[in-house]
Amino acid sequence: MKILITGGAGQIGTDLLHHLHGKGAKLSVFDVAGPPEGLPPGVRWYRGSVDNPSELLDAVKDAAPEVVYHFAALLSATGEAAPHRAYAANMDGTRNALEAARLFGVRQVMFASTIAVFGPGLPDPVPDDVPLQPSTIYGVTKVAGELLGGYYKRKWGLDFRGVRFPGLINAGVPGGGTTDYALWMYVEGIRNGKYECYVGPESTCPMMYMPDALRALVELSETPVSRLKRCIYNIAAISPTAAEFAAAVKKRVRGVEITYKVDPARQAILDSWPRRLDDSCARADWGWKAAYDLDRMSDDLVPKIRKMVGVF
Ligand SMILES: NC(=O)c1ccc[n+]([C@@H]2O[C@H](COP(=O)([O-])OP(=O)(O)OC[C@H]3O[C@@H](n4cnc5c(N)ncnc54)[C@H](O)[C@@H]3O)[C@@H](O)[C@H]2O)c1
Repeated sequence: MKILITGGAGQIGTDLLHHLHGKGAKLSVFDVAGPPEGLPPGVRWYRGSVDNPSELLDAVKDAAPEVVYHFAALLSATGEAAPHRAYAANMDGTRNALEAARLFGVRQVMFASTIAVFGPGLPDPVPDDVPLQPSTIYGVTKVAGELLGGYYKRKWGLDFRGVRFPGLINAGVPGGGTTDYALWMYVEGIRNGKYECYVGPESTCPMMYMPDALRALVELSETPVSRLKRCIYNIAAISPTAAEFAAAVKKRVRGVEITYKVDPARQAILDSWPRRLDDSCARADWGWKAAYDLDRMSDDLVPKIRKMVGVF
């Protein structure tokens, strides 16, 4: 299967490349960034910006993928620092990706949506169908991406699917999201023995370990379309408090000191998001179920981060 990943140099894209390479896919990437070290062999790399239609159209035409994973985006914290750039990358970029798919016969577009589509004042846990009133430019552009993909499906029959990811955790460097504090606790805790967390200890947000996230994407992509009752699905895994993450790190990394100094801007964004997600539609339609809880994730993650930062 020929697959193109936009934003394939990022946190999710890099891990998905290795995952799909292991499954025998023929892979291409389109990204403003160049290829990272340790790229699987045979990956074709197109360098360009998704908000430049000609660059993206030429790449999709040349790569001729059956499936596009559209990941290129500016995330929540980065987007608030550069809202106009975020608008261009996330709004124009998503329209261009859908248009390229329509023009060049791509069968399926997989979209990485987010809990940032939600705003404050929603039920706990938050189900799929609620009023979407995001407070960030990132959330606004992701709501628009969900809706635009649904339009391409109705109007032109494009097989558009996606998940609303919680904050994602892997052995890598976070990409500028508001939920990055959890991963920084592990990375800085192992590297420097301490971390000053930018949200308070009771802060709670849906999170997920990367192997679950990759499995969700592939399982959703492979589900027969007749089983799917919607385009976009909530998926859930864990919702520990920041203090519970800190305890999980301390249990595994001796002498770590985690302190808290709240950054009001990022705390406000986090507080506007759900504490827990209701993923019953994904469970019913395509059998979604997370495999990693906080302990299982931490046991797997800590040795990988030790290797990444070279501290044993
Ligand atoms: N990481 C998370 O916790 C999380 C949670 C929910 C949803 N998502 C979504 O998943 C997708 C991937 O996220 P990630 O964590 O890998 O982000 P990331 O920031 O690590 O990677 C994004 C990639 O997009 C590329 N990019 C940015 N602007 C571009 C442009 N104009 N043209 C081409 N490439 C561009 C970057 O170079 C980078 O390689 C995003 O759409 C994001 O909204 C991520």
